[in-house]
Amino acid sequence: MKSLKFKNGDELFPIGLGTWKSKPGEVKNAVISALESGYKHIDCAAIYGNEKEIGEAFNEVFSKGEIKREDVWITSKLWNNAHLPQDVEPAMKQTLNDLQLDYLDLYLIHWPVAFKPDVQSPEGPEDYLTPQEAPISETWKAMSQLKEKGLAKHIGVSNFSKQKLEELIANTGEIPEMNQVELHPLLQQNDLFEYCSKQGIHLTGYSPLGSGDRSDGMKQENEPNMFEKTAVQKIASKHNVSPAQVLINWSAQRGTAVIPKSTNPGRIKENLEAARLQLDKDDLKDLAQLDEHYRYVTGKFFEVEEKGYKNIYDE
Ligand code: A2P
Repeated sequence: MKSLKFKNGDELFPIGLGTWKSKPGEVKNAVISALESGYKHIDCAAIYGNEKEIGEAFNEVFSKGEIKREDVWITSKLWNNAHLPQDVEPAMKQTLNDLQLDYLDLYLIHWPVAFKPDVQSPEGPEDYLTPQEAPISETWKAMSQLKEKGLAKHIGVSNFSKQKLEELIANTGEIPEMNQVELHPLLQQNDLFEYCSKQGIHLTGYSPLGSGDRSDGMKQENEPNMFEKTAVQKIASKHNVSPAQVLINWSAQRGTAVIPKSTNPGRIKENLEAARLQLDKDDLKDLAQLDEHYRYVTGKFFEVEEKGYKNIYDE
């Protein structure tokens, strides 16, 4: 399983542990279990509301000394209410404090959408800042300063379309190192994948298993279940692996990072062991045919036209 390589020589093992939706009371053990099972990559975000507990796990594991901080790649994300340049460093420092770390391997702008500083979850258009009030290029410059200060080894974005990446690059002259977006066989995003490969932007895929544990309010009607797709099941039984392992391997073998979430120790292990699978040409051909541009995370919840957020994914 190939690692993702960064310009400064750093490498990221593609399969990481996702922590979105991991509940307090469960996430600490999940992270400990992942690190003890050999995970080298943990994905976090301030808005997941569980960084303090993840910090307890890091502290416990790293203070034992067998697993070293520098051998683990830790990502977190800037929430939408901290896009104003003066709010970026304090937000990151809060995350560092919660995670009990003194640097992050990767810090991402979570969404190309800005809220007012005191708003966690907007209730109406008045809770947003327009792109003119909080230009993403200014947020990016503040992110770059975090990298210069050594607080973040790498910086990037999340939920950015090709168009938004192009705008950011045109406005700042800088290329984000990572874009974290939803990716799986039903949403392969081949155009974005190609564009990012050409630009040297790595991709991380979220919701690789379809995020079936989202709250009902976030779900659409009749969501497809990827575990039940005939092609996925056929390939799983052919290789004697689970459907989840097929989905995870598809991402990693494609050259992207992938962050399946689990709080179950058995499934946490199973997901990392997907690295051992080798999908063949026929498998990849069958999986390629599953693309239906289906998004589990529609982004519609942040679309407020009068505030300048018309079409999050520009499609
Ligand atoms: P659990 O945490 O109980 O293991 P995603 O990564 O796309 O957000 O999906 C997360 C969902 O997939 C959670 O409900 C998680 O449940 C479940 N899940 C994680 N790993 C597996 C697996 N190997 N097999 C089946 N379900 C899994």
